Amino acid sequence: MQTTEALQGSMTPFRGRPGRLRHVELRTPDLQGLSDFYHAWGLESVGSRDGGEAETSLAFRAQGTNHHVLRFVEAEAAGLGHIAFAASCRSDVDRLCGQWDQLGVEITMEPADLQNLGGGYGFEAADPEGRRLRVITEMIAADPRPSGLALPQRLAHVVLNTVDIDMLCAFYVKVLGFSVSDWSEHQMVFLRNGSDHHSIAFNQASHASVNHIAYEVGSLDDFLVSVGRMKSAGVDPLWGIGRHGPGNNCFAYYGDPAGFVPEITADVDQIDEASWVPRVWQRVPGQSDLWHLAGPPSPEFRATAAGQPDPGCHPPRWDDA
Ligand SMILES: [Fe+2]
Repeated sequence: MQTTEALQGSMTPFRGRPGRLRHVELRTPDLQGLSDFYHAWGLESVGSRDGGEAETSLAFRAQGTNHHVLRFVEAEAAGLGHIAFAASCRSDVDRLCGQWDQLGVEITMEPADLQNLGGGYGFEAADPEGRRLRVITEMIAADPRPSGLALPQRLAHVVLNTVDIDMLCAFYVKVLGFSVSDWSEHQMVFLRNGSDHHSIAFNQASHASVNHIAYEVGSLDDFLVSVGRMKSAGVDPLWGIGRHGPGNNCFAYYGDPAGFVPEITADVDQIDEASWVPRVWQRVPGQSDLWHLAGPPSPEFRATAAGQPDPGCHPPRWDDA
């Protein structure tokens, strides 16, 4: 017989998922040229007021009030530091950590007040290839910036190269609570944890690394102005401009001085959970390049997005019991 507590739902296990992307931290042996590149990109350096930046790191903010969206930390080799997601309160941080722990996720840092740039309260866990994921609430707010400028509003999505797309997809869905929005053949899978068509995507590859990081601008006009601003700074896209089928978003992919691929994007599909049905898109121009302007991915784009094997990752391991 069910207890009153069970009937009222208080014994229902917590099934949360992380909130919106907050920021990405990247590792690089060389910080040279990154400030100039990302200032042209429309990001602003995070100042020293909140504890400052060591000479061995750089942080940048977008238009929103997220403390920062991108941080580079000097390291021996290029790779991913961590991807940070939001949580609505401290108890959600605690409950999500407990849920992941129960599901066998490796917790690499228990919930705590964080001493990193921007502070906040959060925890860190590792995915099956060792990528570090943080869930953080109560970070310091950035000063509001003037609106109406064609500048990146926020981090839109992060695409990751994996050696086992099926395992990583299953883990992010079953354990972390993401949903599959679409596939691009059996080469890419687009995952959402909110209304955006994708916040994380995986690309099947020969090694684990960062594929690209996308920043959203507010409109198609802002997208073109942003591409023009980069052109004025002497930087052309590695691939694009174009519009993808999966997600329907505009794209222009670049190479930054550290060898990572940032993307300017706009217009990403917003998902109606009640009616959305995932599809499998074909990797042909009519589906991956809707404007027929971009052509196939350039060799430079392919090589830069492949990156080098991330020393922070390891062969995938996950006991899907
Ligand atoms: Fe993208």
